Amino acid sequence: MANVCVITGGGSGMGLETARNIDKDVILVLTGRTAAKLENAKSILESEGHEVHVTSCDVSARKDVHELCLLASNLGTIKTVIHAAGLSPAMADPKTIIMVNAVGTKNVNMEFYKYMNDGGVIVDIASSSAYEAPAALVKHQIYEEAEYEEEKFIKHMTGEANLIPGSDYNKSGMAYVMSKNFVVWYAQKCAHEYAAKGIRVVSVSPGLIETDMGTREVEQADFAKQMIERTCAHRMGKPEELGFAIASIADERNGYLCGIDVLIDGGASTGKKFGK
Ligand SMILES: NC(=O)c1ccc[n+]([C@@H]2O[C@H](COP(=O)([O-])OP(=O)(O)OC[C@H]3O[C@@H](n4cnc5c(N)ncnc54)[C@H](OP(=O)(O)O)[C@@H]3O)[C@@H](O)[C@H]2O)c1
Repeated sequence: MANVCVITGGGSGMGLETARNIDKDVILVLTGRTAAKLENAKSILESEGHEVHVTSCDVSARKDVHELCLLASNLGTIKTVIHAAGLSPAMADPKTIIMVNAVGTKNVNMEFYKYMNDGGVIVDIASSSAYEAPAALVKHQIYEEAEYEEEKFIKHMTGEANLIPGSDYNKSGMAYVMSKNFVVWYAQKCAHEYAAKGIRVVSVSPGLIETDMGTREVEQADFAKQMIERTCAHRMGKPEELGFAIASIADERNGYLCGIDVLIDGGASTGKKFGK
């Protein structure tokens, strides 16, 4: 049976760039909500020699993710899941951000766990903004609710984001930060649990990357411009740089890379130490 790599958010940005770095004997399954983006990605990847299947799926809907698992498992052995689907502060209200980024990650990990076996890997894409979460708001007892008390989890996470004063953008920003802090924590929790089945789980936290999403945030927020100034090379990351890094992290030769977050931010988080 052929190996299958599923990429959520595979129609654009880092998801698409990761797909380009996956071995050509692996069947790619790309998903997202917009058919046109997926068809465009499919034609790019097919022209580069990949076998590609696309299907619509909203990761915040457990039923959609379940159907995605069925489709992928009918094509072969699901070896790799790159979960890159996500929404940024400029794109949605706090509740939608929690639904897609946090509940979506829980749905993807929990559903795919059932269909994956020894040697499988799940890479959850978080964000360097996960590290900006205020300590007072990081409550692991709320994070624990995600799996079995989803409504409570959504209410608590959205409520925390809405406590932040200021504009709607500020509230969505906090929802983003908290949702990505959850992704980092949840990937670690899953790593320790799924290891019993031989499945490796790791999260990746990109800094500002020049995708449609990243460019939109730089236009909207001054702190994003400051972040670029704090990087070693005073620039945003390129989607293809992240695509290569994410595919390498997923490679089975990286078997000891699990239960941890890999921060790829061009040095933005260390810039302050050196006067930037
Ligand atoms: N760019 C940055 O600076 C940056 C920094 C840190 C972290 N990240 C994270 O990196 C990941 C990839 O982002 P990107 O920069 O590559 O941006 P992107 O090109 O906008 O990719 C995000 C993808 O997620 C899909 N998506 C959104 N909502 C979805 C849903 N409910 N269900 C399924 N798919 C959905 C989008 O497709 P549809 O709209 O068609 O659904 C899109 O293809 C995201 O998780 C993002 O939060 C980005």
